[in-house]
Parts: sequence; C-alpha cells; structure tokens
Amino acid sequence: MGFARLRKHRANQRIRDLFSETKISTSDLIMPYFVIEGENKPIKSMPGISRLSIDNLVKDIKETRDLGIGAVLLFGIPVKKDKYGKGAYNENGVVQKAIRVIRKDMGDIVIITDVCLCGYASHGHCGIIKSHPSTSLGTRKSKVKSQNRIIDNDKTLEVLAKITLSHAYAGADFVAPSAMMDGQVRAIREVLDKNGFQDTGILAYSAKYASNFYGPFREALDSVPQFGDRKTYQMDYRNADEALREIQEDINEGADIVMVKPSLSYLDIIYRAKEKFNIPLAAYNVSGEYSAVKKLSQGDKLKEKDLALEVLTSIKRAGADIIITYHAKEAARWLK
Ligand code: PBG
Repeated sequence: MGFARLRKHRANQRIRDLFSETKISTSDLIMPYFVIEGENKPIKSMPGISRLSIDNLVKDIKETRDLGIGAVLLFGIPVKKDKYGKGAYNENGVVQKAIRVIRKDMGDIVIITDVCLCGYASHGHCGIIKSHPSTSLGTRKSKVKSQNRIIDNDKTLEVLAKITLSHAYAGADFVAPSAMMDGQVRAIREVLDKNGFQDTGILAYSAKYASNFYGPFREALDSVPQFGDRKTYQMDYRNADEALREIQEDINEGADIVMVKPSLSYLDIIYRAKEKFNIPLAAYNVSGEYSAVKKLSQGDKLKEKDLALEVLTSIKRAGADIIITYHAKEAARWLK
C-alpha cells in the first residue's frame, strides 16, 4: 500500500490511531507547582497557573493525583529573600512545610523538589556570589561592578547540600538540582547517602540552557537576576555536544533521571540524549513555551488543546520518557 493511500485510509480516526507511532500517557507527566506563604497570587504571564498557599496546593494536588498524574515538582516562594538564600534550607520554609502536609495527606504522590537558590536569593542568581579576585583587588567594595561578580561554584554546592537535606527530612522522594553548578549531583548524592537517605532519588537538570523561554517563571519566583545573566552557568544554545557531556557527567555522579530544558527549541538534544544514554530522560516544557500556547489560543480551549497536544507529542516523539509541563492537568483531562 502506497504512503498516500495509507494516509487517505487514515481519514478514519481509528485507522490513524492504529498507525500512530507516538502516544503520550498521563502517567508520563509531571505537574510543577509554585507554593507561597500566605495567600494565593496569580502569575500574570501564565494564565491558569497561580502561586498557591499550602492548603490550596494540597487541594490542587489531590485533583492532579485523581486525574492520574503521579508526580509533582515544587518551587517555593519564601516570605523574605536575602543575599545568601538562607530561606531555601529553613526547616520551616514553605516548601518544607508543604512537603510534610502533602506527605501526610497523600502517601502515594511522588514529591520532587527544586533545589536551587534563585527563588530565595535577593540577587536572583542560582548560586552564592563572590567578587572576582583579579578585579576586586584595589577596587573599593562599593564600586564592584557587575562584571566583577561571579558565582562561587563550590560554596554553592555546600548550600545545595543543605537545601537537599532539608527537603529529604521533610519527605521528598526526589530532589531536582537546577543550579547548573559543576559537581552538584555528586555533592547531593553524597549528603543524601551520608544521612541515611539512600532511597531519595535525583532528577538532574543536566542540560539546562540559558534560555529566553524562562521569562514567565521568573515572574512567578520574582527571580530576575539583579545583575548580569545566567550565561556563566547555564548552557549556550549554540552547543549540542556539550549537552551530551553534561548529561554523561550527571550520570557518572549518580543521577537517576536526567533532563533537557527547555523542550521545543531543543528537540535535537532530547533525541540525541535518548539515542546515546540508557537512562530515564525528562524534558521540561518550560513557562515560556506554556505561555506561548496560551497566547496563541487566546482563550479558545479547543485551539489550546490542539496546540498543547502537538507540543507534548513532539517532545515524546523526540525521545523524552517524562515531561514536566504546566499543561499536565489539562492534558490529563484531554487524554481521558
Ligand atoms: C532556575 C530555574 C529556572 C526554571 C526552573 N528553575 C530557570 C531560570 O530562571 O533560570 C525555569 C522553569 C520554567 O521556565 O518553567 N533554578
């Protein structure tokens, strides 16, 4: 049978379904959440997504679970930010509290937590800041220019370890380090093992690009960098081989799941990672990708469904096993 004839036959939806090569299922999806101390707060650039108070978060996650989604990813918005992002490892911080409540209410939902500083540090960067040694010499402190400030990779690892422990004690199943510091997976694996959390897993943001598609997320976390940008630690989008090296390194350091982020401009990276590595592969369908679909569909739910399912299917077709998406709940309804 010729290709064209086969396609024509597929005018019958059942025949098209029979020949479809890619299927997304609800159980492949992870729903991200922003949890805030106090009242709910909408996110202007992400229609349908809000920063949720702990009680509303729990209600929402129950719906998510009842729709068949097995896992959630939590980001916290602290009451107060400071230079060192101390709120990130406060045992009574908003994420730590949320984990305990979810754990108590819903034993079976998989809780994954973001491990990073950007939402907690006043400067909005993912790590601890230090002045560049060669340029701070002889420079008066007040005059340190933005170019002279760099991220202290190894100091940051110590803080990421503290955050990890606080999440593990609260009851997280997986931690997801997203700071793109060298050695972060190893540092986290070590601190978990040393403290008896051998069963806590690591979802590593291995190939995370310095992307323009994170805009709405930064509104949600109020984490726009106050100086410079994230290009000294996130990846250059011109590079692909480097992504494979980053993934390899995270596997060596003990990652259980590796991730490519964002998704749509990086389908080639997802494809290559899937070809090369035999390990669960996640893709993050990020905030800007979500907002673009919302914008394009302008409130027309049917259009939104068609757009979103095309997006999610393409990510799956490229090779992702797991998709983190703000469309998870809606997709679960559409897929029913
Ligand atoms: C940073 C972090 C980012 C996202 C998750 N964790 C990006 C950033 O601000 O650099 C983006 C997620 C999204 O856009 O949906 N730790």
